[in-house]
Amino acid sequence: MQQVDVLIIGAGAAGMMCAIEAGKRGRSVIIVDHAAAPGEKIRISGGGRCNFTNLNAAPQNYISRNPHFCISALRRYTQRDFIGLVDRYSIAWHEKTLGQLFCDGSAKQIIDLLVTEMNRAGVELRLRTSADTIEKSGDGYVVDLSGERVRCASLVIACGGKSIPKMGATGFGYDVARQFGLALTETRPALVPLTFDDNTLAPLKPLSGISVDAVVSHGKTRFAEAMLFTHRGLSGPSILQISSYWREGDTISVAMLPGTRAFDVLRAARSRNGRQALQTALGELLPKRLAQLIAESSKIEGHLADLSDKQLLAVEKAVNEWQVKPAGSEGYRTAEVTLGGVDTDVLDQKTMETKSEKGLYFIGEVVDVTGWLGGYNFQWAWSSGWVAGQAV
Ligand code: FDA
Repeated sequence: MQQVDVLIIGAGAAGMMCAIEAGKRGRSVIIVDHAAAPGEKIRISGGGRCNFTNLNAAPQNYISRNPHFCISALRRYTQRDFIGLVDRYSIAWHEKTLGQLFCDGSAKQIIDLLVTEMNRAGVELRLRTSADTIEKSGDGYVVDLSGERVRCASLVIACGGKSIPKMGATGFGYDVARQFGLALTETRPALVPLTFDDNTLAPLKPLSGISVDAVVSHGKTRFAEAMLFTHRGLSGPSILQISSYWREGDTISVAMLPGTRAFDVLRAARSRNGRQALQTALGELLPKRLAQLIAESSKIEGHLADLSDKQLLAVEKAVNEWQVKPAGSEGYRTAEVTLGGVDTDVLDQKTMETKSEKGLYFIGEVVDVTGWLGGYNFQWAWSSGWVAGQAV
């Protein structure tokens, strides 16, 4: 039976970073993935340009049952460390918005960087190889890798979450946690479009494809980014962000003209041009089809001159305090990440090793640490992978 110091299950962002660091420390490392290529999610990320980190990445951009858990790893391997690595490979990048860094060229450059670093560190990458069963054996673990048994001293579970099953997501990491009696927090799709029931959707269907800059709120949590009407509900960055906080039965509040008081603008228009229709005046502020729908659904007839301040305030509410109750989400089929996972209570925040099982580590998305949209999830993968790489 082959023996190795470190066996890593999952050649995604977290697994590859851990492999590089462990290899650099002189450990013998095997990293396996059942996919035909490493870093498949990196390849499709950021529309093919990989939003590889965020200039502003900080613990407050992460959701976890223990919001303090991620602090140590994020401090020890920061966004500046990863940017330094990208710069050493002369990969050109740009800030798109809100601190989000993308490759100028292609996400493949990030995968090539990681594979080159793994080669330099002497890591053995095995593709089309699935981790099937795991047994504890003496001081280490014996893992069945597509029929071949390998013994390792440190076993790192880096197999991601449940999102996008057709890209190789399995939930295997959660099974391993259960096998060793490790606590899991509830898992659910996050960074995912929200859907409406038929009644809510019917009047909104003509808006499909329209995008507005919005502020979307759920309780005290709010995101100011674009929002897109879809043929099933709502999407766009602000909706994906709020989906990580929303739960079935909750209402979200949407401001479609943030920073502008529609009431004031309509009142000024009323004094200037009282014969203007509400729909036309709103159409100067919002996309025409949206303006038409708001005017129609407010059931206010006549020209601006006929409208009272009270009626204009009702329009202001419809524009900037739209209360809407999604029925559900598009689910794991399109979710960018899985919220929840291996409970951070069972892990050492400095090493990502489980407290109860010596030599067993969990890193990346499988752990109950979920970032906002905007490069935060890759930063968690790099940081958690790096700290485990120093310890295995
Ligand atoms: P990841 O899922 O990347 O890797 C896990 C690997 O384990 C997979 O390659 C899988 O095949 C393998 N595996 C699973 N079970 C196995 C088994 N039993 N045996 C062998 N191998 C197994 N984030 C961000 O910060 N910026 C961005 O631009 C984007 N964009 C984006 C787009 C899309 C469409 C998605 C779906 C997601 C993103 N994300 C993102 C999120 C980001 O991709 C995600 O958080 C990281 O890839 C998580 O990295 P991990 O290494 O933890 O898991």
